[in-house]
Amino acid sequence: MSVHYHESEGLFVLETARTVYQMKVDGAGVLRHLYYGMACGHEDMSYLYRSYDRGFSGNPYAQRDDRAYSLDTLPQEFPSCGVGDYRVSGFRAVLPDGSRCADFRYQTHAIFSGRKPLRGLPSAYDSDGEAETLVITLTDACARLAVRLTYVVFASADVIARSVEIVNNGAQPVTLEKASSAVLDLPPGDWELLHFHGRHCMERQPERVPLFHGTLSLSSTRGMSSHQHNPFVILCDRCACEESGDCCGIMLLYSGNHKTEVERDQFDSVRVVTGIHDEGFAWQLGAGESFQTPEVILSFADGLTALSHRFHDFIRRSILRGAYQNRRRPVLINNWEATYFDITEEKVLAIAAKARSLGIELFVLDDGWFQNRSDDNAGLGDWEVDRKKLPHGLDGLIAQINGMGMQFGLWLEPEMVSEGSALLSAHPDWALRCPGRAPSMSRCQLVLDLSRAEVQEYLYDKIAGLITNYPISYIKWDFNRSVSDVYSHALPRERQGEVMHRYYLGLYRLMERLTARFPQVLFEGCAGGGGRFDAGMLCYFPQIWCSDNTDPVARLMIQYGTSFGYPSCTVGAHVSASPNHQTGRHTPQATRGVVAMAGVPGYELDLTRLTEAECREIAEQVRRCRETEALVREGVHYRLSGMREMARYAAWEYVSRDGTRAVLNLVVTDPAANGMPVHVKPKGPRRALPGRRGIHLHGAGADERRLHIRKTDRRLSVRRGDRHRGGLCAF
Ligand code: DGJ
Repeated sequence: MSVHYHESEGLFVLETARTVYQMKVDGAGVLRHLYYGMACGHEDMSYLYRSYDRGFSGNPYAQRDDRAYSLDTLPQEFPSCGVGDYRVSGFRAVLPDGSRCADFRYQTHAIFSGRKPLRGLPSAYDSDGEAETLVITLTDACARLAVRLTYVVFASADVIARSVEIVNNGAQPVTLEKASSAVLDLPPGDWELLHFHGRHCMERQPERVPLFHGTLSLSSTRGMSSHQHNPFVILCDRCACEESGDCCGIMLLYSGNHKTEVERDQFDSVRVVTGIHDEGFAWQLGAGESFQTPEVILSFADGLTALSHRFHDFIRRSILRGAYQNRRRPVLINNWEATYFDITEEKVLAIAAKARSLGIELFVLDDGWFQNRSDDNAGLGDWEVDRKKLPHGLDGLIAQINGMGMQFGLWLEPEMVSEGSALLSAHPDWALRCPGRAPSMSRCQLVLDLSRAEVQEYLYDKIAGLITNYPISYIKWDFNRSVSDVYSHALPRERQGEVMHRYYLGLYRLMERLTARFPQVLFEGCAGGGGRFDAGMLCYFPQIWCSDNTDPVARLMIQYGTSFGYPSCTVGAHVSASPNHQTGRHTPQATRGVVAMAGVPGYELDLTRLTEAECREIAEQVRRCRETEALVREGVHYRLSGMREMARYAAWEYVSRDGTRAVLNLVVTDPAANGMPVHVKPKGPRRALPGRRGIHLHGAGADERRLHIRKTDRRLSVRRGDRHRGGLCAF
């Protein structure tokens, strides 16, 4: 049992293997938050909170004689709004009388084993039959609203999944203006925030900041989870490091507009509110209707490494689905950086043939294969093959690629449409754009209105048609612009604030249908690289192209940041050409290989232009990928360098579950003349330390032929020298 209710005290205790979450219904019916942290048993943790008579923190009417009782200071599970709690709220609604106040009090609860999937939204699943669910219903009698707070406890994973369902029990519609997935009033502490910001080609850069008095807001209004702010944050103790310290991870399973607010208030209490962004959001909730928020998963651990392990394991076990959840993904070659739009059948086949000879298993035909696509100004929407580029059509091309013993994959950008396409000419109202206003363009494309069932149907038929008509084993699903001009021609004026969320309900429905019908197809998510790298997408697509930046040195930080929340088996990572197309940096082939092997590896360069020696090295890398693949996909991941070290080198390690095998990767980015050696301390169980059977060490540096790697007891020391060959060394 992981959900406990102590009736006499009104105390709820959610227990996982190593953590405890406590809430309590107080005498006024307010559901207080008591504690979330490392295991502390069932002892009522109310003593952590002391109430005082505070100036300018008012009292509910029923408690007006107890001036120490204030909603403004109580830690709560679902704070009220407009009635005296002045901190950020997770809820706001316009009631039929125009008021915006709500005050929810405990009504009832239910506990059951297992979990119910969320209606229309991605959610974690109960892979081991161990989940238990607690649903607490709070009501506001005046507003005639109810909220059902759901807590799904995954005990052995140390994860609690939360979401909220808002029900209108009144006779008239209300407008939801804010409907967050979770509010977490953290236990007292000296909290810092670790978050992952970025931009196109530089996603998920870690930044750790102390909390100031005020509210920090990390969000996206771009119609996608975004390159700029990943919907995953960590609150950690000021002293927390990889090995120890209180760390609380909060990950939203949502791919659209989101917002996480972190407030440190006047009394140093910290509140986190996360969910759908309220900007532009307004949902008409009719009489008897309910609104389901996206799910958020929480985990708490001692140290950043342990926290990452919880998320990695949970994503692998309870988020990823389908045939490729636990299966080796094929090593692929993608033609994008080799040809861009300049595709010819001859070129494509030459690259495929070379790739096959080096052991690569899947050829992916990227953007540019369809009509009117000589550049990125036109062509999206119709998805008809360009016979000028591919005279034998897709079937002719695929037959030849399959004939080489390779699988075939195709790039699509289903959610977009270009002006001039037959689709947009036939259905000008299928694009998101405001009446009478010229829309903002990005990459010369518009966004299809996926809130409309007929648009979802069109895309389903198109994509299902392609997969049934051709032997397609893989689809790269791209999304190359931020959304603007959000307006649906299918919805009335008062429902325009629903469009962006309805869009994601439509997209999830489409992905659900396609992945259910074609379970053998490997889908890779992409949004100009990692612009939609989130756990919502991962419920459908087991891997996501991590970044359009394929420079291995830049990738080190991108993949390092990504690793805090997401396991390597979700990270698409390719070896590309040197000098790199995004940064112009020259790097050795070995460095590019080592970095790509920290994800799902692939190649993205014109293999026909390489020397024989370079090709031999790639063949060796591909062989090595297979050798270490299971370790990377299933193993325990350790970061061996922190942000400070990353300026000089990056090191990381995967250790097998039984602790008998490990692979340690090291990239020296600044070999520093006359510098000190790099010391790297391997982690994980003692028996997996280098020096024991089956340990592999890859080393690659800016000038890896001049690196010398030697073993001294439990540390690896890397310094300039002349003996290292680069590549795989067995110790
Ligand atoms: C952005 C992707 O991230 C790239 O890999 C490539 O597929 C281009 N789009 C194609 O337009």
